[in-house]
Amino acid sequence: MTCLKTAVIGIRGMGREHAENLARHPRAALKAVADLHTEAAGQLAQQQDARPYADYRAMLEGESLDAVIIATPHHLHAPMSLAALEAGLHVLVEKPIAIRISEAERMVELARRKNRVLAVGHNYRTFPGNLKLKQLIDTGQLGPLYRVLWQWLENRPEAYYRRDLWRCTWRHAGGGVLMNQASHDLDLICWLLGDPVEVSAMVGNFAHQHEVEDTALANIRFASGAYASVQLSTCGPCLNYRQLCGEQGIVFFQDERNANVHVPQVFRLGRYREPLRQTLQTHSQPAGQPEVVWQEVDCSSATCPTLLDSFVDACLDGTQPIADGVSARRSLELINAILLSGVRRKVVSFPLDREEYDALLDELISGKTRLGL
Ligand SMILES: NC(=O)c1ccc[n+]([C@@H]2O[C@H](COP(=O)([O-])OP(=O)(O)OC[C@H]3O[C@@H](n4cnc5c(N)ncnc54)[C@H](O)[C@@H]3O)[C@@H](O)[C@H]2O)c1
Repeated sequence: MTCLKTAVIGIRGMGREHAENLARHPRAALKAVADLHTEAAGQLAQQQDARPYADYRAMLEGESLDAVIIATPHHLHAPMSLAALEAGLHVLVEKPIAIRISEAERMVELARRKNRVLAVGHNYRTFPGNLKLKQLIDTGQLGPLYRVLWQWLENRPEAYYRRDLWRCTWRHAGGGVLMNQASHDLDLICWLLGDPVEVSAMVGNFAHQHEVEDTALANIRFASGAYASVQLSTCGPCLNYRQLCGEQGIVFFQDERNANVHVPQVFRLGRYREPLRQTLQTHSQPAGQPEVVWQEVDCSSATCPTLLDSFVDACLDGTQPIADGVSARRSLELINAILLSGVRRKVVSFPLDREEYDALLDELISGKTRLGL
């Protein structure tokens, strides 16, 4: 197989971007699109020489496809992915992988059983600055990480939620800032730091009319021994801040303009002249500081393969996609754990109890449990 025959389900926002990228991809072809919005599907299909469908199941049955990209509201990620995998197709599903860890589990298991690629739209892993950060950590240049401080803050006015009502409900979105915007950040945190083992969080809705959380604060302990403290909110001005501190160095990044684009492009890296532990043991001054050599790491001109490239290569060549289902399941587990900890007001250990989380989400959906402040 040299050309991946692909379809896209959900073609308004992110799905349109996927469809257009597929149509000009050298190793893939856009064969069909499916969307409840039949007029939009018809127009896009005509532009791209593909076939339109209103019903994605009819498309799965009627087309001879290799792969499907799913870019629909979050609650549809699991049922649509399962149907496509069952039909023997490779799947790239937008982030988050699902709304419940129990669903993500079924998706990963079915992909394994069917020997199909399951990739997830965590495209922030492909941004040059994030790849550079990962490389610094993986090659030990920061030493073992001790502490991470991470903030993603960017306002989302009511107009944003009025435009897309599905983003407002537990049933359709599965959460607010955690599931929607900051699923990228929590995915990056797990990608950089590994498996979380414990979380203590506060979640609330400070200023919005919808039922899901607009703010989350969490302290996370990782299997590696690292601690992370995160603040995520859609109330307040744009601020993207990261500080990663290790035994050998520190990374510092702040941006008040672009919380949601290809960041970080430039960040500061401080290398300690000697390991921190050594300075703590041997410095003769009571307030002795580590000697730090600072440099600007500029990734703005670097180019990296896209998430789509990585998915197409994985399907055609058997390589590992940059954001596979197993690692995206871990990111969702952290999101679910933060919600469980914040709503039930308790410390949550991993692995997250799947039934306990399902029960919580069912209560939030039915209105039996509501967010407090
Ligand atoms: N990776 C990124 O950077 C990024 C950016 C934006 C959105 N997303 C993700 O992409 C997904 C879609 O978000 P969006 O902003 O494009 O949403 P959107 O509301 O703009 O588009 C969703 C589309 O799905 C269609 N749809 C809904 N139910 C359907 C069904 N049963 N069958 C077929 N089509 C159906 C809608 O008609 C709509 O066209 C979400 O998971 C979101 O989190 C990812």
